[in-house]
Amino acid sequence: QKLLLIDTDCGIDDAQAIMMALAEPTVKVVGITCCFGNTTVDYVCQNVVKVLSVCERSEIQVFRGACCPLVGGKNDFTDHFGTDGLGDVLEDRDSEVWKDKIQKEHAALAMIRLASENQGKISLVAVGPLTNLAMAVRLDPTFPLNLKDLYIMGGNMEGKGNMTPCAEFNFVMDPESAYVVLEEYLCPTHIATWEFTCRNTLPWDFFEDMVNQDTAAAKFMKLITSKCWAFSKTFGENNRDVHFGQGFVPYDSFAVAACIDQRTVTDSIQCPVRVELQGSLGRGMLALDPTNMLNKSHSASVMKSCDQTKFCKLLMASLNQP
Ligand code: BDR
Ligand code: CA
Repeated sequence: QKLLLIDTDCGIDDAQAIMMALAEPTVKVVGITCCFGNTTVDYVCQNVVKVLSVCERSEIQVFRGACCPLVGGKNDFTDHFGTDGLGDVLEDRDSEVWKDKIQKEHAALAMIRLASENQGKISLVAVGPLTNLAMAVRLDPTFPLNLKDLYIMGGNMEGKGNMTPCAEFNFVMDPESAYVVLEEYLCPTHIATWEFTCRNTLPWDFFEDMVNQDTAAAKFMKLITSKCWAFSKTFGENNRDVHFGQGFVPYDSFAVAACIDQRTVTDSIQCPVRVELQGSLGRGMLALDPTNMLNKSHSASVMKSCDQTKFCKLLMASLNQP
């Protein structure tokens, strides 16, 4: 079994991505670390506990991490997935029972420990702002060398963004952390960018088939998307030139899918990358450097195309549980 550690800012698409990992028999999730992002880190922790409970996998340990970026990055939470990140529909969202389920150890320390206990065996999948990852490498510079590889959902490859005209949410929320991770993580690194995920927008009909399965996970997904994705559908109809809304884009699941089965990625660009820290528009943008003008010794693999048949199979299976 592959060992997966997931770092998340658990909104709706993160929940789907986590379920994909939980449903996959070739994978063992060794822990889930939480970061602010789609919502506050407390809601993120609560959401992860909820997802694990829906999937009857509460034995998996959950760790609380960063509540804000390292330096004045954007931290006004998006309402894309509602205030609580899971569509503002869960009746028990103000209960505090989740707090007992969170480990005492900080997310960044848990990452370092788990990687050191499982030398070279853990794949880290990061689907939120990269703050916990940046903290971990600053606490222990050897940490990334103990990982097998790193999969990131974030950044962009054509200079198009979803938070600013040129930058993607996970990177814009904490540009310094994204910068640190892409400079310091010398393990094999795979990136599913914003444009890559949008290029693989899936039809709403597929989404309906997926959430109409007769399982607890599917019912849960149907419930949490009931309010907030109604907006996406209308937005798409009225904005035909914008990717977003014209179908369903399970952003974070692309990173998990690539980690589960590399064959879901059919083409990629292997090149040095760097995160832009300056500028009112460029801050948080991912720059690709195929001719290595930056003279870097390390490069990342930026996903270009996806085997949608394989990907959709994994998506469908993710809600076919417990
Ligand atoms: C990313 O931003 C978050 O809102 C999503 O969960 C995803 O990780 C997409 O830009
Ligand atoms: Ca996310």
